[in-house]
Amino acid sequence: MFPDNGGGPRAEGSLPGQFPTVRMRRLRYHPGVRRLVQTVRLHPGRWIQPLFVHDKGAEKKPIASMPGQFQLSPDHLVEEAEQAMELGLGGVILFGIPSRKDESGCDALDENGVICRAVRRIKQAVPDLLTVTDLCFCEYTDHGHCGRLGYAGTQPTVDNDATLDLLGRQAVLHARAGADVIAPSGMMDGMVAAIRGALDAAGFIHVPIMSYSAKYAGPFYGPFRDAAESAPQFGDRRSYQMDPAAAAEQALREVELDLAEGADIVMVKPALAYLDVIRQVRDRFPGVPLAAYNVSGEYSMVMAAAAAGWIDGPATIREILTSIHRAGADIIITYWAKEAARWVSGIDGGRLGS
Ligand code: PBG
Repeated sequence: MFPDNGGGPRAEGSLPGQFPTVRMRRLRYHPGVRRLVQTVRLHPGRWIQPLFVHDKGAEKKPIASMPGQFQLSPDHLVEEAEQAMELGLGGVILFGIPSRKDESGCDALDENGVICRAVRRIKQAVPDLLTVTDLCFCEYTDHGHCGRLGYAGTQPTVDNDATLDLLGRQAVLHARAGADVIAPSGMMDGMVAAIRGALDAAGFIHVPIMSYSAKYAGPFYGPFRDAAESAPQFGDRRSYQMDPAAAAEQALREVELDLAEGADIVMVKPALAYLDVIRQVRDRFPGVPLAAYNVSGEYSMVMAAAAAGWIDGPATIREILTSIHRAGADIIITYWAKEAARWVSGIDGGRLGS
């Protein structure tokens, strides 16, 4: 009835070490054996929850394109931070949505701006929660680009070198407010060196930099830009974020440069469409802490399919997180961090939207 069940006579001509001597399924019959030979274990301590904080009043505003995610008031942010701590998450990464945006992104350079106040609130309420700040200008500028505008020839784009000094100032403000890790996401050349220099000069030699080293341009950030109200008002980000069709070695060069400039943790982003890049970075730079950003578009696709009943959300999410770790990421920034932490620690049975 089950032809491969009985370990029958060795097929004529088969080599030692092959079927039926070798049966890969022997590692799969017993759940305990399967568990024993796993190399990927999901653990909330390796996940970072992104949180959006606004300064437009006391409301917790749902983000339409990211069901289950919110623009949080500072009070709600503290609630989320407390939960993140209780669930044993690796940390949170904060994105600020200021009430006023202007051409130079002033709120990002104000010690009483939305993000500095948010960091102070979290550090007062939950001092032990690892608090990472995303360091960029696109959430603060009215044009939605990631730094000070300038020209490359006749093309309006971000002025790389003029932005570096601003990033250094922003980083020092975040560190002063209490940020534990600074995560520059703007893909400016030389940004890690500029930020390292500024932090060191201000006495923050101990604050690590998690660089968005290989960040690709594309539609996967669409829902985030709704969430952070940060879509570029003209053009796109292709003159600073990477081209998906570029050789993967370009990502390795980006990582190499960031490490030379002093990055402590490097990142590949998005995750799912770039598992090959994650693997190549892992192999080329063993021992370097590697993060992957499981971005908003990846989140929203699964949430939409799960809501429609087309896919089993929790099972899919587990497989996604597993695949990103298996590709080589030590750390995953994921909108599912809290929820998946509840499942892996058995707090609920794996429903979405708890
Ligand atoms: C800021 C930033 C972005 C994301 C993280 N930091 C947006 C962008 O580059 O347009 C995207 C995160 C996500 O899509 O989940 N530059």
